[in-house]
Amino acid sequence: MPKSLISIHDLAKEEMLHILDLAAQFEQNPASSLLNDKVIATIFFEPSTRTRLSFETAANRLGARVIGFSETGSTSVTKGESLKDTIKMVSHYADLIVIRHPLDGSARYASEVSSVPIVNAGDGTNQHPSQTLLDMYSILKTQQSLDGLQLTMVGDLKYGRTVHSLLQAMALFDTRFIFVAPPELAMPSEYKQFLHHRNLIFKESRDLLPHIPDTDILYMTRVQAERFQDPMEYEKVKNVYALTASMLQPCKPNLKILHPLPRVNEIATDVDDTPQAYYFEQARNGVYTRMAIIAFLLGLK
Ligand code: CP
Repeated sequence: MPKSLISIHDLAKEEMLHILDLAAQFEQNPASSLLNDKVIATIFFEPSTRTRLSFETAANRLGARVIGFSETGSTSVTKGESLKDTIKMVSHYADLIVIRHPLDGSARYASEVSSVPIVNAGDGTNQHPSQTLLDMYSILKTQQSLDGLQLTMVGDLKYGRTVHSLLQAMALFDTRFIFVAPPELAMPSEYKQFLHHRNLIFKESRDLLPHIPDTDILYMTRVQAERFQDPMEYEKVKNVYALTASMLQPCKPNLKILHPLPRVNEIATDVDDTPQAYYFEQARNGVYTRMAIIAFLLGLK
């Protein structure tokens, strides 16, 4: 079976660090002909702006050609074609497939039926490992280290797949975790167990303000409206946190705010002009990190 990236656990710590190093090299030299005989497929069964476009930019910058779809309405999925058959077909056309799908576990299933590497670009509430690597790259760039940091995760820690992958990756480093969420959106127990088993420290809190002064990375997330079964439950928590510029004092000089984006109202626009705002640069880092992921999985770097 070809090497795929489905969960952050598919990578050893050394492989993660190798990909971050490659990303830094691609940032220095973003034009490459490494993939000029390759075709990359992006097949998105759920909406996306950053992940799809940054993977396509990454593939183009590496010299590959890109095929795919961004919604299923124009595909044979509407005629009832199964995920298995779709993946088998696309793996005959492309050298690597990037997939986003609403079902937890769908990307793993795709990797089991594909003859080419699969990259999970988000499967339901489960994992988003390429986001994790670009988050780590952003942390490393802004903090010069992945060790010794306080990582404060805020918002929808229940449904937010980016925080689940990031927690598992940063658990390999010396990280203090703070989880800020209302009980309805708390970090699921399986992830807290994961930290317990590794003797890692975490705290849970409803309140954000008391944690800002000690935080190095403030990881804000959107409340994921699309994952709620009951719209009334979403209404209760949709505005639970709204970070404004005035809330950032006092803070450490190295504090950076990350957000996988899109944001709704959890970060006010007055934060965008503060030196702590890093979320748009974080999204740009996605191109270099995804160039590194593609090159690594295809065995070219
Ligand atoms: N961060 C992220 O996954 O963004 P998109 O949903 O726009 O791809």
